[in-house]
Amino acid sequence: MSDDAEVQSRPGLVVALDGPASSGKSSVGAAAAVALGYRFCDTGLLYRAVTWLAVQRGIGESDPAGLVQLVGSVQLLADDGGRLAHVAIDGEDVTDAVRGPDVDAAVSAVSRVPEVRAALLERQRRIASAGRIIMAGRDIGTVVLPNADLKLYLDATAEERARRRAEERGLASDGPEAAEILEQLRRRDVIDSTRPVAPLRAAPDAVHLQTDGNEFERTVRLVVDAVQHREAELAGSGVNVTATPAQPAVPPRPTQPRAAPGRRQRRPIEPTPIAAFLNPLILFGSFVLRVVVRLFTRVRIEGDLAAIPRAGSVLIAANHASNADPVLIGAFLNPRLGRPMNWLGKREVFEWPVLSWLVRQAGVHPVDRGAADVEAFRSAMRILEAGHVLAVFPEGTRSPDGRLQAAKDGVAVLALRSGATVVPIGVGDSDRLWPKGRLLPRFTPSVTVTIGAPFRLNEALAAEDPEAAQDRRRAKEAGTVLIMRRIAALLPERQRGIYGGSPPS
Ligand code: DC
Repeated sequence: MSDDAEVQSRPGLVVALDGPASSGKSSVGAAAAVALGYRFCDTGLLYRAVTWLAVQRGIGESDPAGLVQLVGSVQLLADDGGRLAHVAIDGEDVTDAVRGPDVDAAVSAVSRVPEVRAALLERQRRIASAGRIIMAGRDIGTVVLPNADLKLYLDATAEERARRRAEERGLASDGPEAAEILEQLRRRDVIDSTRPVAPLRAAPDAVHLQTDGNEFERTVRLVVDAVQHREAELAGSGVNVTATPAQPAVPPRPTQPRAAPGRRQRRPIEPTPIAAFLNPLILFGSFVLRVVVRLFTRVRIEGDLAAIPRAGSVLIAANHASNADPVLIGAFLNPRLGRPMNWLGKREVFEWPVLSWLVRQAGVHPVDRGAADVEAFRSAMRILEAGHVLAVFPEGTRSPDGRLQAAKDGVAVLALRSGATVVPIGVGDSDRLWPKGRLLPRFTPSVTVTIGAPFRLNEALAAEDPEAAQDRRRAKEAGTVLIMRRIAALLPERQRGIYGGSPPS
């Protein structure tokens, strides 16, 4: 079977996700796509990028031909999971710039120009033709993809949407800026829904999701459930829901690592869906692993497990002295925590059919170590941004002698950028149970998994080292040391290595 034939047998739908400004389409759609292993496309970015260029060049809606000319410079960028949530102009990533208030103010006017819409229509259809995609916008279910397999319409009151937008920008919800945001949203709603061509409107066959008062995770869950339900429905009715997936119809992000000339192109590895719920398989697997571990040692769990948040992004950072560590942390803590952990694992593991299936069930995400840390970082950020638990070993590899080694800065950067709650964990004496270089574990009286107090790195750093907190480069270095010293404080003295010394307050 060719690679193509294999990928074509993966089921996948074309999902239209429409809704007004700030209804959460982009963030919810992207997170749901990650959970489902789907591609994602935020079509609003196309209109925003054209508008941004138009503002820069002083081209207004009275010059349709001038606006259409700008369309050719705009490209959506695919990340390694095929998600089109970034936009470039002439190769330069301008995603942040196009989300600014100047574009907010002008984009609805540019988007109502029929010629601009016509110029972008074919592009959007081409992207969707590869299937297995969630495409977010205003007119996806009505105009761009009227035959979509599933149409969702995400909505919330203008007040709720304005409140969320103000919160995102760190503004008080009752201040004058928030009032201005509400006003602008209302203006955009009016223009978007009254324009003659492709107005914002729910397709008659769309499923409405009213999201007022919902937690972000709950809305993502609703979308994921709706897609899975429709997948099952179509599969049950005998309708062929297979599609040629994941060949983005646009070039990949320029920052993505390319294969070196002459280096053999490796087969792409399917991304693992984010482990978001404890399923029976994880629970059963954890039980079996606990039984096996107890044949060799007694496991003591110390610290305050109840303090670990039961919702929102959590970054578990542990020392790594043994192959037993992920089992000691995952199998022993997952069920008590009530949430599964996600992990990063080398891609080689995913080349073995049964093993690959097992590690995916355990929430391990493939990372190509040959492609540097960039890929690992992106996978990790996706998990945290979607509000889930990620467990990492900041040292990167097992310690040869059980003592802490110098950690990489990646974990601190993740913690600082995502704002996730960091939970330090010290796994004591796992190096005695199963040291590096030994084929099998050996009998050991006990090992201890100690859970430290959760903290947010931005806040801890601001309190402990305010100067470093102000400087990006120093913040990641100081943040790494802070995390590692908190792990060290949870370990027996002999294992504290270079992060020993007086424990942090
Ligand atoms: O989703 P957003 O706020 O990023 O979209 C920006 C603008 O783009 C929105 O005000 C209307 C326009 N748009 C559109 O007209 N059709 C789409 N499919 C997507 C966006």
